[in-house]
Amino acid sequence: MDTAKLILNGEEYEFPVVVGTEDEVGIDMTTLRSRTGAISLDPAYGNTGSCLSTITFVDGEKGILRYRGYRIEQVAESATFVEVCFLLIYGHLPTQQELETFHNDLTCHSLIHESLKNFFDGFPPPAHPMMVMSAMVASLSAFYTGTGDADEGDLNIIRLLAKAKTLAAFSYKKSIGQPFIYPQNDLSYTQNLLHMMFAVPAEPYEVSPVLDRALNLLLILHADHEQNCSTSTVRMVGSSQANLFAVVSAGISALWGPLHGGANQKVIEMLELIRDDGGNFEKYVDLAKDKSSPFRLMGFGHRVYKNFDPRATILKESADEVLAELGMDDPLLEIARRLEEVALEDSFFVERKLYPNVDFYSGIIYRAMGIPTGMFTVMFALGRLPGWIAQWKEMMEDPHVRISRPRQIYMGETERSFVPLELREAEGRERPEPVGV
Ligand code: ACO
Repeated sequence: MDTAKLILNGEEYEFPVVVGTEDEVGIDMTTLRSRTGAISLDPAYGNTGSCLSTITFVDGEKGILRYRGYRIEQVAESATFVEVCFLLIYGHLPTQQELETFHNDLTCHSLIHESLKNFFDGFPPPAHPMMVMSAMVASLSAFYTGTGDADEGDLNIIRLLAKAKTLAAFSYKKSIGQPFIYPQNDLSYTQNLLHMMFAVPAEPYEVSPVLDRALNLLLILHADHEQNCSTSTVRMVGSSQANLFAVVSAGISALWGPLHGGANQKVIEMLELIRDDGGNFEKYVDLAKDKSSPFRLMGFGHRVYKNFDPRATILKESADEVLAELGMDDPLLEIARRLEEVALEDSFFVERKLYPNVDFYSGIIYRAMGIPTGMFTVMFALGRLPGWIAQWKEMMEDPHVRISRPRQIYMGETERSFVPLELREAEGRERPEPVGV
């Protein structure tokens, strides 16, 4: 199979077929419009491949996720987040020497410019940390403009990874009115993040190994997920050759939405709602099935996974372990389990192949770690950074890449004459009612 045939207006056209290393099949429609005059119409891109990529493989039917060929289960079991960053961005597992250099680089660039600290004062106290994060990451480009040469690009990757955790921790400290805690060079990436978030001046703070392990796991599971909404945003904005900080800031904004990374916050809010309503989860399962209600079970469903989300499976087990190790008993975990049981037996969810996704259990673990709900999606964004960077880098290194520019099928008015305001008034013409009124 190496071509696909299309018959349009009685004419037959052949298009090349591209087969990936995992036998995924794509029809290369690059010449569709120039040859036929037609475009492919695929709102929400459910059938559209936007690139060839060597970074992450997802098989949604089988529940498989691999980073650079390595199964997520093995990576989650054995790697650190920093190792995963290296793997995703540079394409291979680091040697001891490479890992040390990478780690040192990430440590040395952890500080943010002192002037940047003042930016935090401009946001009102209730500002959502994701908004702050997106603005602060974009603001890095004011300090590190970059000349666009390869070395500067590599340095900006390090700067972004290193400083993002400091920005995240500072935005948390700002939101609770505590002084900023500076990074410490003797700590690992994840230890430093926990230290900057939870230490307070003049009091000793020992990073708990349980929290450190849990954070590594969460960040690793978030690290990449091929062409989802935020990653496609990163590629879309990056294709205009905007700088890396602006590009990732756009990715953070896309991730914020409740249908994407923002779901982890919404899951906890939903579980709290169910708890406060007497724990009647059946009522909420019914509500989610009711087409006249906008309510959805947050943390359920996925565009790609139609069997199970392997990240959710790992997190479900880990939630038990982390809570046990921290000696906590969170009633929300019980509600989450019962909700999952009920939903997984309900024909509405079974027929639509709606399973818990990565966000369903991550919030429970973040909560147990003492991370406030508003910061959940920021943690997700920190985890997703290496994925966004790797996808951006892959795109920028592709000599054939062009600016992303989809087309549309226009369904509006055909040409009509413009009537100047005075004439419209004189003729007493009324404005047409807005559509839908
Ligand atoms: N609760 C109730 N019904 C749902 C849910 C849900 N969580 N998710 C999907 N459905 C139903 C839809 O109503 C639709 O039913 P219909 O066919 O009768 O109209 C059907 O399942 C298909 O849903 P779509 O919205 O078409 O699926 P899509 O692939 O476009 O959306 C999404 C995927 C956004 C994840 C969706 O399942 C959802 O809204 N889930 C809740 C939010 C969430 O958890 N997001 C995090 C995703 S993971 C991540 O981004 C990291």
